[in-house]
Amino acid sequence: RTVRIIGAPTDYGANRRGVDMGPSAIRYAGLADQLRSADTEPVDAGDIRAPHAEECDPDTRSVPTGTAQFFEETKTVCTQLADTVESTLETDELPIVLGGDHSVAIGSVRGSAAAGPLGAIWFDAHADLNTPATSPSGNIHGMPLAALLGIGEFADQSWATAPHLREENLVLVGLRSVDEAETRLIEQRDFTVFTMSEIDSRGITAVVEEALAVATDGVDEIHVSLDLDWLDPTEAPGVGTPVRGGVTYREAHSAMEQVAATSAVRSLDLVEVNPTLDQHNETAELATELAASALGKRIL
Ligand code: ARG
Ligand code: MN
Ligand code: MN
Ligand code: MN
Repeated sequence: RTVRIIGAPTDYGANRRGVDMGPSAIRYAGLADQLRSADTEPVDAGDIRAPHAEECDPDTRSVPTGTAQFFEETKTVCTQLADTVESTLETDELPIVLGGDHSVAIGSVRGSAAAGPLGAIWFDAHADLNTPATSPSGNIHGMPLAALLGIGEFADQSWATAPHLREENLVLVGLRSVDEAETRLIEQRDFTVFTMSEIDSRGITAVVEEALAVATDGVDEIHVSLDLDWLDPTEAPGVGTPVRGGVTYREAHSAMEQVAATSAVRSLDLVEVNPTLDQHNETAELATELAASALGKRIL
């Protein structure tokens, strides 16, 4: 299977600069070799063009209700990324999107869902369900799921919504930092969440097995969005919004091996790797290893 690597070097969606260097760091950490060891054939499509925060017009940093910094830039980049992911799938290649901050998932999931009904699994410390009105930070990397589901001010933003992403097949795994408005949505809406508490009490294997069963129920394929802050900061220090109490190196690999076993992965994101906060590129390296596990790399 051919895997197409697509860099999406954004950092304006995050709380700290530098995550735009993620695509370079992940490539330099040996992504292509890891993908070959997973029996896939990598092709590198380079990076899509993303502006730097410093060169942007500050007036585009907010929307009428609430705050979503760099809204116009996010729209432009995600539209381009969605097209790139969509055309990658048309040629029967598997897109891997390298972030960049998690706002890029608006583009990758929308592009992926253009190919037909889609489940999704979101490995993250955060719920990423804020809207411009509820966000405590105004950072769009905390909003991609609200955007894709058309919640709140995103309801009339057709560039951001993904009609074929099936909410009943959307699952969030590993949550441990959830804002108030996000908690209300989790109670009201049809997607499924598993917090770290559930991983503590039931174990990673049981939780991921159930998560994958929900994500694939009635759909053939899923999108996997891996925010590296899903892992504990001792294992993945190079992220902008670290939260203690995340999954371990072994739990993460084990989960990705379960993902691979479904043979249902349509597309994959590796996001939030910030080389300016990393130690010896270890978080980028971890991202390459986890991608390989998710695509079928085995020890023997
Ligand atoms: N919930 C917080 C916010 O809305 C943090 C979001 C962090 N998101 C991420 N993709 N790392 O600002
Ligand atoms: Mn840059
Ligand atoms: Mn995230
Ligand atoms: Mn996160």
